[in-house]
Amino acid sequence: MGRVNGKIILVTGGAMGMGRTHCELLAAEGATVIVTDMNEAEGQATVDSIKASGGKAEFYPLNVTKHADWTSVVDKIVATHGQIDVLVNNAGILILKQLEETTEEEWDRTFDINVKGVFFGTKAILPAMQKAGAGSIINISSIYGIIGAPMAAAYQATKGAVRLFTKATAVDYAQYNIRVNSVHPGVIDTPMTKDLLHSGDEETVKAILGSTILGRAAQPKEVSYAVLHLASDDSSFMNGSEMVVDGGYTAV
Ligand SMILES: NC(=O)c1ccc[n+]([C@@H]2O[C@H](COP(=O)([O-])OP(=O)(O)OC[C@H]3O[C@@H](n4cnc5c(N)ncnc54)[C@H](O)[C@@H]3O)[C@@H](O)[C@H]2O)c1
Repeated sequence: MGRVNGKIILVTGGAMGMGRTHCELLAAEGATVIVTDMNEAEGQATVDSIKASGGKAEFYPLNVTKHADWTSVVDKIVATHGQIDVLVNNAGILILKQLEETTEEEWDRTFDINVKGVFFGTKAILPAMQKAGAGSIINISSIYGIIGAPMAAAYQATKGAVRLFTKATAVDYAQYNIRVNSVHPGVIDTPMTKDLLHSGDEETVKAILGSTILGRAAQPKEVSYAVLHLASDDSSFMNGSEMVVDGGYTAV
């Protein structure tokens, strides 16, 4: 019996990187995973790989910045499955630039996807969770929503916003038995970071790993286990909390 057996779990940005491994692990642990992304080909590939392993998954195109996408997808899932037990707000982008070189368009795009996307997703899913009297919302922030780093002011501002949005919604919706927690990955080897981690330049890799005391980047699945915990009933007393998965980066 899987740890999230029978749960209906929607993951944003499920086509690639950590979103994909979250979907694969949650499905392997018994959930029906609603894989969503703007990238339809890779999103469908996530579903195909889950089904090939005997899991349950469906793909829906969803741009997290489009309110109409959210209402249409949520309505369809509720009509088909009756409920949504878990939402994983994972989709996000990173723009690495000094502040004075960051354009208004880049600032707005980062906030639209990383923050407004989480707001829209939470707002869209709440009525179904309130009706069910249960739910778990998992917001993917970053260690850069907790501590500072060079070249990422816009990104860090969004991840700090997600961290406190998580606590605000945890406070407001605990009365409906809806738990909201954030996950704060450190340096993870995904398409987002591949150019930096696989640049072949030891100095760049060392700079990116920063104070990660385990001395390496994580594989995406190492973060998926934290998401699995928050999605499962094993985390029934965790609410408004921050799960840091960073190989010790923020410990020193
Ligand atoms: N990789 C890291 O080291 C790291 C560290 C800390 C936090 N994070 C966060 O973890 C999350 C996942 O990161 P990743 O490294 O797997 O990223 P990634 O770039 O590898 O994958 C991101 C996925 O999000 C999708 N996406 C982007 N914009 C979207 C939109 N508007 N609507 C729907 N989908 C969209 C992409 O198509 C892609 O499938 C992000 O929120 C990121 O900020 C990553």
